[in-house]
Parts: sequence; C-alpha cells; structure tokens
Amino acid sequence: MTIVDVHPGQRLRREHARLTASLDDLLERFADGNQRDLRAAWAEVEQDLVAHLDFEDRLILPSFTAIDPVETQALRAEHLRLRETLAELSVGVDLHLIQLDRAREFAGWLREHAHREDQLLYRWVDRELAQIMRAIPGIEVDGWSSI
Ligand SMILES: [Fe+2]
Ligand SMILES: [Fe+2]
Repeated sequence: MTIVDVHPGQRLRREHARLTASLDDLLERFADGNQRDLRAAWAEVEQDLVAHLDFEDRLILPSFTAIDPVETQALRAEHLRLRETLAELSVGVDLHLIQLDRAREFAGWLREHAHREDQLLYRWVDRELAQIMRAIPGIEVDGWSSI
C-alpha cells in the first residue's frame, strides 16, 4: 500500500496556507467592490474549509482526544465557531451583503486556529498519525488515498 501524500501534517499545513491565501484574496476583492465571480470563488473556499474541518473532526480529533482531551475540546469548539460564522458569511455572499469587518474577523480566527493546531495537534500528527494511517488497509480519505 502506498499513501499518495505520505506526510499528513504537511498536507494539513498546506491546506491552511492555501485556505488563508484564498480568503485574503477574496477579502481584497470584497474590499475593492469587485463582485465578479465572487460567489463561485467564495463557494470554493467554503467547500475546501468545510472538507478540512470535517477531516479533522472525523479522523484526527477522535484519536487526539486520548492524548489531550482539553485541547481536543477547545479545537472542536473553535471548529464549531468557524463553521457557524462561515455559514453566516455565506448567506451574506448569497445576498450580496458581505460583512467585510466580520469576514476579516473570521480570517483572523482562522489564522489563529491554524497557528494553534500547528503548535500542538499537527506536531502530534507528524509523529503519530502517519503511522496510524499507513496501518489502515485500503484507506481513502479526501486525497490521502492508498493505491
Ligand atoms: Fe482545525
Ligand atoms: Fe486545520
């Protein structure tokens, strides 16, 4: 079995970098009043972020809770806040009523959340989860597929 992306921690960090860059780009376009194709671009960021959060919630945090239940609970609470705010902002985008201050606040939370995960959760992922995932036959998880 070969894992296509052999380093889950790096993959998750790359997703953070891509998500925050995409969000920054969108916020600039919102600020410039450039509404063209904004809805589709927002939907793409939303889909990628939700997939990232789902992956962590379903496949990483259930194992990490045995290591650090307090941190796991805090990360789950942050995920919930991110999901709720993302949904709220998406309604605004649909209605062409984007709340720029709120969106900037959201981008700041996302950056802080990414930093927090990098400090503890992803270091654990680097050490442990690659081994765990390699041990699962036939695993196929959002691009981390075995072939
Ligand atoms: Fe997260
Ligand atoms: Fe993350």
